[in-house]
Amino acid sequence: MLCTTPSKSSLLFPVMALLACSTAWAQSPTYKVGRPPTEAELRAWDNVVGSEGKELLPGSGTAKEGAKIYAAKCASCHGQTGQEGPAPRIRGGRGTLNTPDPMLTVGSFWPFATTVWDYISRTMPRDAEGSLSADEVYSLTALLLYWNDIIKESDVIDTKSLLQVRMPNRDGFYPPTPEATTKNSNWKPNWNQARPAKQ
Ligand code: HEC
Repeated sequence: MLCTTPSKSSLLFPVMALLACSTAWAQSPTYKVGRPPTEAELRAWDNVVGSEGKELLPGSGTAKEGAKIYAAKCASCHGQTGQEGPAPRIRGGRGTLNTPDPMLTVGSFWPFATTVWDYISRTMPRDAEGSLSADEVYSLTALLLYWNDIIKESDVIDTKSLLQVRMPNRDGFYPPTPEATTKNSNWKPNWNQARPAKQ
């Protein structure tokens, strides 16, 4: 059918014509190009690690190993001990959420350890995203957890032990963080907790 707007007719007609046209487009033909994505391609795209850690790549690491990688690949932006900047602090701040000057770090704020792995794996180092091996990411995650007094320096972090880590601010969100998913969720910081009412 022709999708033209008639020049002189009732006001209603153009609307009907538009409706008819959009119905026609909804049944548009397939063009016989492309193909459905393969399993591997979907996995490469859908690789955000949720709180259940199903998407974690196999591997392991310790804070000791992480310290060497950190010095080479992270310290230039985050500082020698993770506090000096210029990039955001990734250490300290526990107990500050409830104060007028909250300091948000991996240790003080983030609810799931799997998110630390995910974030480092996909977005760091900022100038070479995606370049770290899975073992390097486990080691760096272990270092940040150790620096934030969540695990011991000798603890081995791997697919299983990472899931057992309970982050200090795990219950500090409202509504409570769903147990099963970090994807598509709408949590907001629990501002009642993070920002005390002014007196
Ligand atoms: C070129 C500079 C640069 C390098 C190198 C770098 N980062 Fe970052 N990093 C940043 C910036 C900038 C941010 C803040 C990101 C934002 O605001 O989106 C950040 C954020 C982070 C955060 C989240 C902080 C938070 O609580 O929001 C973590 C964790 C982190 N980086 C870890 C690392 C690790 C581990 C390495 C080494 C593999 C690394 N970064 C290397 C610049 C860098």
